[in-house]
Amino acid sequence: MITGTTRLYAIVADPITQVRTPEVLNNFFAANGHDGVLVPMHVAANDLADVVNGLRHMKNLGGFIVTVPHKTALAALCDELGGAARSVGAVNAVRREADGRLVGEMFDGTGFVSGLKSQGHDPAGKRVLLLGSGGAAGAIAYALAQAGVGHLTIANRTLSKAHAIISKVQAHFPDARLDAAAADPAGFDMVVNATSLGMREDDALPIDTQLLQPHQVVAEIIMKPEFTALLQQAQQRGCTIHMGRHMLDQQARLMAEFMHGSAF
Ligand SMILES: NC(=O)c1ccc[n+]([C@@H]2O[C@H](COP(=O)([O-])OP(=O)(O)OC[C@H]3O[C@@H](n4cnc5c(N)ncnc54)[C@H](OP(=O)(O)O)[C@@H]3O)[C@@H](O)[C@H]2O)c1
Repeated sequence: MITGTTRLYAIVADPITQVRTPEVLNNFFAANGHDGVLVPMHVAANDLADVVNGLRHMKNLGGFIVTVPHKTALAALCDELGGAARSVGAVNAVRREADGRLVGEMFDGTGFVSGLKSQGHDPAGKRVLLLGSGGAAGAIAYALAQAGVGHLTIANRTLSKAHAIISKVQAHFPDARLDAAAADPAGFDMVVNATSLGMREDDALPIDTQLLQPHQVVAEIIMKPEFTALLQQAQQRGCTIHMGRHMLDQQARLMAEFMHGSAF
């Protein structure tokens, strides 16, 4: 029931009809007894600044979630950014403070690490090979360093992008042990696919799966298909596999708590 006391939240995107966040977060609010509602807002890139400025003045707005194509543009429209958002240069959730200031943060990485922990795979002290250097990989690298990863190696087709992520993460975590190398899983406890390879049936594998060892955890962030070719082959090699959906499941809770300003 929406009443005069209901707190408002939104997801801002273009296109909008594909988003699942309203179902997920409204269920989450209901399950946690929170008097809030999250609605979809279809906003074109050219209108983003005007809409965000309007939202700033809505006193009963808790915050909003941001997705394609606005994640980078929104970072420039916030008054303050959290550490992950500063490192990645993008936000996916914004909290509106009581005075109208907007605080942005990026939860891709913390969602991924929370997802790992929820399945019993704490990356603290572990040697991790991260494949990819796009937006998601940058956020995951930051969150793994924050979680105390033992050693993080980043492998990417465009190696300069791996080095760029390493510099940004090291600026926040100077003691973190990070390097860039080829996509060879030998010697790692965990391999994380943060490339977009695996979304399409004819995609190449992001790694030579013959090199995987049974003691390794192979984690995916692709959600569709849930059981990517990489995960199938890793499982056949005896590895422990970790699905992409865990990242999104955890992000919902983290973003809701961030916009609410405290844990539920
Ligand atoms: N589970 C979740 O909650 C969640 C959240 C965010 C994203 N994702 C998924 O994560 C994936 C990456 O997203 P993103 O936003 O980081 O994308 P992105 O910024 O476009 O980065 C794509 C990455 O994949 C690499 N790549 C693409 N095609 C390749 C190819 N043919 N060969 C080798 N490498 C290739 C790119 O390498 P180059 O740098 O060399 O181009 C880059 O490292 C997507 O599948 C997305 O759906 C999942």
